[in-house]
Amino acid sequence: MISKETIDKVFETARVEEVIGDFVQLKKSGSNYKGLSPFSDERTPSFMVSPVKQIWKDFSSGKGGNAVAFLMEHEHFSYPEAIKYLAKKYNIEVDETEQTDEQKEAANERESLYLVSEYARDYYHTTLLNSEQGKAIGGTYFKERGFSEETIKKFELGYNPDQWDAFTSEALRKGYKLDFLEKTGLSIVKEEKQFDRFKGRVMFPIHSMSGRVLGFGGRILDSSKKAAKYLNSPESDIYHKSKVLYGIYYAKKMIAKEDNCYLVEGYTDVIQMYQSGIENVVSSSGTALTPEQIRLVNRLTKNITVLFDGDAAGQRAAIRGIDLILEQGMNVKVCSFPEGEDPDSFSRKHSKEEILNYFSENAKDFIQYKANLLVEEAAGDPIKKAATVRDMVESIAKIPDTIKREIYIQECSRIMEISEDVLYNTLAQIFNKNKKEEAKKTKESSSKPFSVVGNEAINPVEKVDVLYELERKIIEALLLYGNVEEEFEDLIVKETEEGEYALEPVIQKIKVFEKIYLDLQDDEVAFTNTMFRSLYSKIIERLNRDNELKVQNLINELVPEESAEISSIILNDEKYLLHRWDTKEVYVKLKNKSVAQLVSETILSLRKYLINQKIEELSKQTKESTSNKDVLLDILDYQSLNTLLGNKLGRVLSV
Ligand code: CTP
Ligand code: MN
Repeated sequence: MISKETIDKVFETARVEEVIGDFVQLKKSGSNYKGLSPFSDERTPSFMVSPVKQIWKDFSSGKGGNAVAFLMEHEHFSYPEAIKYLAKKYNIEVDETEQTDEQKEAANERESLYLVSEYARDYYHTTLLNSEQGKAIGGTYFKERGFSEETIKKFELGYNPDQWDAFTSEALRKGYKLDFLEKTGLSIVKEEKQFDRFKGRVMFPIHSMSGRVLGFGGRILDSSKKAAKYLNSPESDIYHKSKVLYGIYYAKKMIAKEDNCYLVEGYTDVIQMYQSGIENVVSSSGTALTPEQIRLVNRLTKNITVLFDGDAAGQRAAIRGIDLILEQGMNVKVCSFPEGEDPDSFSRKHSKEEILNYFSENAKDFIQYKANLLVEEAAGDPIKKAATVRDMVESIAKIPDTIKREIYIQECSRIMEISEDVLYNTLAQIFNKNKKEEAKKTKESSSKPFSVVGNEAINPVEKVDVLYELERKIIEALLLYGNVEEEFEDLIVKETEEGEYALEPVIQKIKVFEKIYLDLQDDEVAFTNTMFRSLYSKIIERLNRDNELKVQNLINELVPEESAEISSIILNDEKYLLHRWDTKEVYVKLKNKSVAQLVSETILSLRKYLINQKIEELSKQTKESTSNKDVLLDILDYQSLNTLLGNKLGRVLSV
């Protein structure tokens, strides 16, 4: 954990316009900056940065937040990575003292493993570029493969001399500990002696999403030798092969921009395609694809195109990957190559345009792809056909989205000439089977930890939408006008001289946040949306404590989703200024209601909505258990409160 002090210092120092300015060209525009959205291809600027509030908002993609949120979105950093990046930019020392001694030791150890790996990368790379043996053997090899000097430098390729311990002894001489050389697998330690694991191999460093070296792949040059063609770093505290994709560091930006990721099998496929100008490409490096690897891509795009060798092994690997990708809710296309070609050889022979053309003509939706296999393998064989159809429906069953599933069922029905009814039946069978298996599993592992208190009377769709909007509006009111004092009209029940009860308007002069807090407290309203609930209490607490709300300070303490939401709310008003900077009229006209009106209207609508919910819930109870007098009385109470609120709301709206 990075200490709170460090994080505070980073937030105090970092200027959002400077941080973003490193990635986006910003132009001053009034009190803000604007620029072209880095998250889409646009020609008119809809990206806005507010130096005063220290937030940004991208109106073309809806993203927004503070400097850290920008780095997380744009560079795909994790939160700690973003903080560390900023600390480096502003020369702030990162203090991680909040860790326990044990954690500190583990972090130090991991850091040591990174450092030794980064040293190895530099050593292999310079050896390749500068040593006689490196140039003659490694250099020649890469040249023969068609890798340019630029590519070799970009991917930091290297060479490990063909001697028992050239690298290991140099690393030890430089002061790197044998322990770490062994733990990263760069060196093999046997009794008194130590050797280079990658002796005589060309080296491919494997990077994390943020560019740190995790491990290596080393390729043998002489394929006639008995040794494995590729040797990879063993698993270590920093290298987990199931969680890495080769090339992701280089590909991430283009994956997001192109909204598609090509998935290939090998190191050289990635490099060759990248060199051809197709940069959104990663490889699972010969291992079966894992859910963690897919999730890495899922952060960047929903679309994967699997490219695989034309041989049978390649096809099997592709098929295994498809279901996993579907399960993560992603869209899969599959593209195979002509017999004997792989992405590496194919992209060496063709230009970028030709390659992309080939992909667009040959990439098939997974369902089409499976159907084609059948045509080839099982033409005229009804048993095989049945098996394939079932196989296709099994894949469709993995798709989490109902509408998408339905579309695929229709597609499958069309291609395989089988009625949709039969396919839906098969789908239902598969679901039942899965459900039973799941039930068995959960029964074995645990009994229900908690039960959900349902409220079936309410249409879930409606419940989510209306409440969401109202709750968001309350947050908006707090953010924009929380500290403003306004005159609110309230209706108080008074006894008249004739002994009757009547509603009498009273004017109350209080701050917006107090009004909101007091009114909601009256009905013990708790927000259903967890993000809004958390924002609500944080904002109220600050207004109460400081008597003001500094958005910048607030935003820095929030989790990324919260800060994005807040930026969105705050800068939304200014969206109208983007294209009409000179005429502020547009903006002013939107606010023709008074603040007090807006606030009252929102609070009343929310309360009324919740009370209606309550009434519905109670009415349902009375239907189930007869003659429950208490419940009936409750309903009456709520109904009169509802009428009262309706009255108030009517007055607010009619002013
Ligand atoms: N692989 C591996 N160990 C092996 C063979 C392969 O780790 N013994 C991994 C490598 O990541 C390799 C990928 O599987 O890049 C694909 O294997 P293959 O198609 O055999 O290699 P290519 O990438 O085609 O390698 P090359 O073109 O260098 O022969
Ligand atoms: Mn190859």
